[in-house]
Amino acid sequence: MKSYFKKHEWLVTEEGFNPEMNREAESIFSIGNGYMGQRANFEEQYSGDKLQGSYVAGVYYPDKTRVGWWKNGYPEYFAKVLNAPNWIGINVSVEGNPVDLHTSEVSSFLRTLNMKEGYLERSFRVKVAKSKTIEINTRRFVSMSEPDLGLIRYSVRSVDFEGKISFKVYLDADVKNQDTNYGKKFWKEVSREVKSGSGIIVARTLKTNFHVATGMSFDILKNGNKVSFKAETESRDKFVANSFDLSIKKGEELVLYKYVSILSTLNNAKENLTGDVDLRLKEAKAKGFDKLFDDHVKEWAKIWATSDVIIEGDVSAQQAVRFNIFHLYQTYTGRDERLNIGPKGFTGEKYGGSTYWDTEAFVMPFFLKTADPKVGRNLLLYRYKHLEKSIENAAKLGFKNGAALYPMVTMNGEECHNEWEITFEEIHRNGAIAFAIYNYVRHTGDKEYMADYGLEVLIGLARFWSQRSTFSKNLNKYVILGVTGPNEYENNVNNNWYTNTLAVWTLSYTLENLDILGKEDNGKLKSLLKKTGLNPEKERPRWEDIIKNMHFGVESKLKVFLQQDGFLDKELVPASSIPADERPINQHWSWDRILRSCFIKQGDVLQGLYFFEHQFDTDAIKRNFDYYEPMTVHESSLSASIHSILASRIGNIRKAYELYLRTSRLDLDDYNKEVCDGLHITSMAGSWLAIVEGFGGMRIINDKVKLMPLIPEEWKSYSFHARFRGILFEVKVTSKETLIRNLSDKKLELLIGEKEYVVNGKSEFKVRM
Ligand code: BGC
Repeated sequence: MKSYFKKHEWLVTEEGFNPEMNREAESIFSIGNGYMGQRANFEEQYSGDKLQGSYVAGVYYPDKTRVGWWKNGYPEYFAKVLNAPNWIGINVSVEGNPVDLHTSEVSSFLRTLNMKEGYLERSFRVKVAKSKTIEINTRRFVSMSEPDLGLIRYSVRSVDFEGKISFKVYLDADVKNQDTNYGKKFWKEVSREVKSGSGIIVARTLKTNFHVATGMSFDILKNGNKVSFKAETESRDKFVANSFDLSIKKGEELVLYKYVSILSTLNNAKENLTGDVDLRLKEAKAKGFDKLFDDHVKEWAKIWATSDVIIEGDVSAQQAVRFNIFHLYQTYTGRDERLNIGPKGFTGEKYGGSTYWDTEAFVMPFFLKTADPKVGRNLLLYRYKHLEKSIENAAKLGFKNGAALYPMVTMNGEECHNEWEITFEEIHRNGAIAFAIYNYVRHTGDKEYMADYGLEVLIGLARFWSQRSTFSKNLNKYVILGVTGPNEYENNVNNNWYTNTLAVWTLSYTLENLDILGKEDNGKLKSLLKKTGLNPEKERPRWEDIIKNMHFGVESKLKVFLQQDGFLDKELVPASSIPADERPINQHWSWDRILRSCFIKQGDVLQGLYFFEHQFDTDAIKRNFDYYEPMTVHESSLSASIHSILASRIGNIRKAYELYLRTSRLDLDDYNKEVCDGLHITSMAGSWLAIVEGFGGMRIINDKVKLMPLIPEEWKSYSFHARFRGILFEVKVTSKETLIRNLSDKKLELLIGEKEYVVNGKSEFKVRM
């Protein structure tokens, strides 16, 4: 596939300006630091097509639900991370002629994302009028070391004239979401201040009443020397600006440093916001742009030291995996358990920045293996804190006795999704949350988490599965009716194999952990039983009965698990039979045609085999993979990665590689033609997993790391970092050998294939393949 963006190991570059690609580029070049994010909108005025986007993590608005046909149980609102006050604005004009890439004559344009150091750069030349050509170079970053800070270096050089350059440096809180349901604006001004060289706006969100203070301060240098200036100030509702003119001669350069601090009532007291921002700006200016940039780069270096993946011999794959790791850490750093990871992070409005099952199923394993265990723990605590709301949510749907149904889409624990087949039926999300608890504990060994928080969540989930399963006299088995699995191209099906598997597994995992706690800390168990009102004698027998007698459909000749009851009655044809001009089917076919077809949006049975692979032998995985993958259209960004991992597992490295490329370059090559709306942040984690769990074959089995390394023939080598119970290690795979470098002091016991090895602390070890 031809890439629009240039390939490089650490950079993503756009050469030449293409207005029709601008929205895509704005998404690709987004920057963020887990606390805020910014699309790659231009600082200067741009009258062409764009999606303006500045986002502050955790600051959301409950936009009143809009549905055609209301159903009882629908939520009242959809929470949206808001388009927040625009802090990047710097308008420039030359002798009254504005620099505007839409109208000015652009003779060169280069936009670069530096993933190693975490910044966005632009350099371009424009002729704004006859003999009035200027060159602009910008660098922008949002600080990883001081997350409230956004910094811009904006340089203007005269190429061929002597004259006046006018600047307007501004903050604009009069912004709106393009996806607003009723065309409303969500911000109201609280206060504003402006003077020459600085300005602050405090705005609050309607309904949720988050106060956000955005402050700016700036310096100007001419040919390297600070210039004093007297700016004219402008102040109107939700807007402050400084305007001033400076003279310039041919070849001279003016550099503007814009310092911005954004603080909100999420972390600061309302009454102090203005003072706090003011102080932060003074501190930032005292440090200066270069020092702040150095500190920021050092933080990125720390992140890369434990998360980088190096691929030798394939620059396209190398760039892609770094791009994905980069955006994951830009979206979430794990410092704050109130925050989570929206499917599009801070790169667009779609999905509202809300939390989906994507976090537990896809992103959690990435952070468990690359980051401090606190990060995974915070992701779990986020759900723990929403337990009460999940119990209320289940109660609204008619469940009782502390049964918890986590929302499909949420910001604060309340359900936001409003399509019945998803809201009420995609209950498999509950299973992903249970799986994440298990995954966290097996990676970190943090049993305390299980005792103090995890088990309480599991009890709520187990109670839900117990009530959601009903007994069929006809089958003499328990059944789960009317669900939608991860494959959203089937709705309201009975006995979705994946959902039934999760239900049974959650029930038995909960019982197992209740028993363990009973043995290890009976006092804690007692208080947990009291807190949850769980009476094991009353509830346990039903749970055990469901575990023993759940219905699972199996196709007896091929011995594959049935995605759902009745699946075999469909016309079973491969996805390759769909004409190319009808793909993706979700953009070409009516919904009923999709539902009647056998085509699978994303892994369903196979998603289950990925989670619980250790319970199945290779033949079973292969049979199911060979049966379902050909019918899968991979129209969810989450699909290819799981299939790639399973393809590696069954030794089908060609397929694994093909699917890996698709998942890893999904956004860079815009496979789904929707990058203009934002990036697929959660699926990015899947592409990393396709290397580590796929090609590297990393598993945690019986409290040990296991590797089953393979290497695509296109690669000379690849290496990745991973963590396991306080041990950080690096794995490098070539076609001849696997090298394990233990970077910690503790010894690492692991399996490579079926053989056991010990790698002592701070040492390395090679195994010939
Ligand atoms: C997928 C869901 C996913 C959502 C957000 C949908 O297209 O089918 O599984 O949770 O996107 O990524």
